Amino acid sequence: MRGKACKENWRFYKKPNLGFPALILSCSFFFIAGLFASNLLLSQDTSSDERWLKARARQLQSVEEEIISKYNLLPSGETGDDFITLIPFQILSWRPRALYYPGFLTAEQCQHIINMAKPSLQPSTLALRKGETAETTRGIRTSSGMFVLSSEDQTGVLQVIEEKIARATMIPRTHGEAFNVLRYEIGQKYDAHYDAFNPEEYGPQTSQRVATFLLYLSNFEEGGETTFPLENDENFEGYDAQKCNGLRVKPHRGDAIVFYSTFPNNTIDPASLHASCHVIKGEKWVATKWIRDQVQV
Ligand SMILES: *[C@@H]1O[C@H](CO)[C@@H](O)[C@H](O)[C@H]1NC(C)=O
Repeated sequence: MRGKACKENWRFYKKPNLGFPALILSCSFFFIAGLFASNLLLSQDTSSDERWLKARARQLQSVEEEIISKYNLLPSGETGDDFITLIPFQILSWRPRALYYPGFLTAEQCQHIINMAKPSLQPSTLALRKGETAETTRGIRTSSGMFVLSSEDQTGVLQVIEEKIARATMIPRTHGEAFNVLRYEIGQKYDAHYDAFNPEEYGPQTSQRVATFLLYLSNFEEGGETTFPLENDENFEGYDAQKCNGLRVKPHRGDAIVFYSTFPNNTIDPASLHASCHVIKGEKWVATKWIRDQVQV
């Protein structure tokens, strides 16, 4: 694109009867061009995009070299890395095991997912327990949503995000379900529920959800927190979504949290019960990636 713009400028400057402003413009152009050229005497063939990428790579490399010299990395296996990955996190809780990743996504990545999801939103549905129907469960989950596989995103953004989630959780990408992008408008919520499927309630399962990775795509002004009701709360069983009490987190756009629905011995952690509080002001957008104990086909 930049190359094309340049070409058009050239055509413009070749026209006869140039006015004074054009002269100034052309002088500035050559001055700036001269500056660039003097910086890049040795790489005349690269476009500005390539130059930018090279500069970025050099920058990263120098950071990398600094870290490598500091930590003296080990030789990696075939599937390993020869660099260090830094994904800062805060431990929110051990019951359930929950982590917070501030700034996991860029604002552009968030907007990209929202734009992709917007045209195909549908009212969210529930996995039904024995004896439940769409009618009897109406009102439990009032958001809209859609599912999207990373392979359906031609830009590759979802693949990059999936890869980062795999690094953060150290669970291979192949264990993830499709992204479930959700929008909660004012008044919308998701009552307390488990993401894991208890076979006693849902019947035998071929695989189990072990972790939930939640990407926060928008800043929501009021309400909309993700809440983990406290096990010792007398209201734990009949949790009141209106009160929305418990460990309540309200990340910002680009942040992420992960929580584990199962203990290391693969039984369901009762403390992984969670809810999405009513949105009071603004619009809450999240993308969920459920991670299973078996490879997803
Ligand atoms: C699994 O681990 C949890 C937490 O440590 C423990 O409470 C539970 O009894 C274990 N269950 C089995 C079947 O081992």
